[in-house]
Amino acid sequence: MRDSGSNGAHLREVSNANSQQSVSAFAPSSNVSEQAIDIRRALKEGMATLRASRVPSHTLAAELLLMHALGRDRTWMYTHAEALLESAETEKYYALIARRAAGEPTQYLTGKQEFWGLEFEVTHAVLIPRPETEHVMEVALARLGPRGLKIHMDTGLPREKLLVADVGTGSGCLAISLAYELPHADVFAIDISEAALEVARRNATRHALAERINFVQADLLAPFLRPSLTTSPSPLPFDLIVSNPPYVASNEADQLQREVRYHEPREALFGGPTGVEIYARLIEQAGTLLRSGGILVLELGYNSAEHVRAILTEQNGWTNVTFTNDLAGIPRAAAADRI
Ligand SMILES: C[S@@+](CC[C@H](N)C(=O)[O-])C[C@H]1O[C@@H](n2cnc3c(N)ncnc32)[C@H](O)[C@@H]1O
Repeated sequence: MRDSGSNGAHLREVSNANSQQSVSAFAPSSNVSEQAIDIRRALKEGMATLRASRVPSHTLAAELLLMHALGRDRTWMYTHAEALLESAETEKYYALIARRAAGEPTQYLTGKQEFWGLEFEVTHAVLIPRPETEHVMEVALARLGPRGLKIHMDTGLPREKLLVADVGTGSGCLAISLAYELPHADVFAIDISEAALEVARRNATRHALAERINFVQADLLAPFLRPSLTTSPSPLPFDLIVSNPPYVASNEADQLQREVRYHEPREALFGGPTGVEIYARLIEQAGTLLRSGGILVLELGYNSAEHVRAILTEQNGWTNVTFTNDLAGIPRAAAADRI
């Protein structure tokens, strides 16, 4: 950052090779050192570019990208509105604005997203954690009740260990948040994507929880049904299995926002021709692997609830089946106890 003078930036056309789109963006001329701009102006221009490209929450996006380019927090930025950007900062910021204007999600540009009050690294290998997935956390913790506490409240004695699985862990947001909330839990974080597991491992290390989380590359829970094929002894039986599986129908791709459709991993989004295919297999496997009284919590697509209700009814052995709505009133989390 520099601290004096201010000058005009010029409009120019910035092309984005990734999206093969060309976006009109405010950006400084090549002679940036001669045309330094201050924070106020950078923000204003960034917001205008994002608004013109119909980026949702364009104000917040411009702020986050400028904070990222400067390595500063919001308070610092707004208390130094006259400070001038270094040329490298200016270039970085306008490049980020151009990529965001072309549809790349802010979180992939800054490399982070908050979930359950914890910060997670995100890359293009993982789905960006969504606020509605926090319902899975809420339902799981509410169902565990006193079992979620590390000690017995009446005796003060330590509780027996909990065994937890997160199927389709992606960034690890559910597995890591559960390990954080449940200090007496051992967690299996499972994903079919090795690239996703690498990100999840880094996130577990970042939160000092890697020791209690086992990362397993697998198709759903298949290796646990054939423990001889795993490198670890049979982990049966689980106390809690959670999953936010891919649940978008293949033919609904064109209804997704461009941010999702072109930038988030396909294997994290699409569940098959109808989108609900994965639930039947997952529920059947969970039925085998959960202990009696064990809990299953699944995130649902906007139209998955009736399908999942039917599976839980048809497959014997489930009780206390509930559906929890998200803030938009859509049934978002299904839960059931194993009889
Ligand atoms: C919707 S994302 C959820 C990621 C993360 N749990 C979250 O809530 O943000 C689904 C994840 O499931 C993984 N996945 C897809 N099919 C799978 C399968 N058959 N077995 C295991 N994981 C799978 C994807 O790679 C992806 O990381």
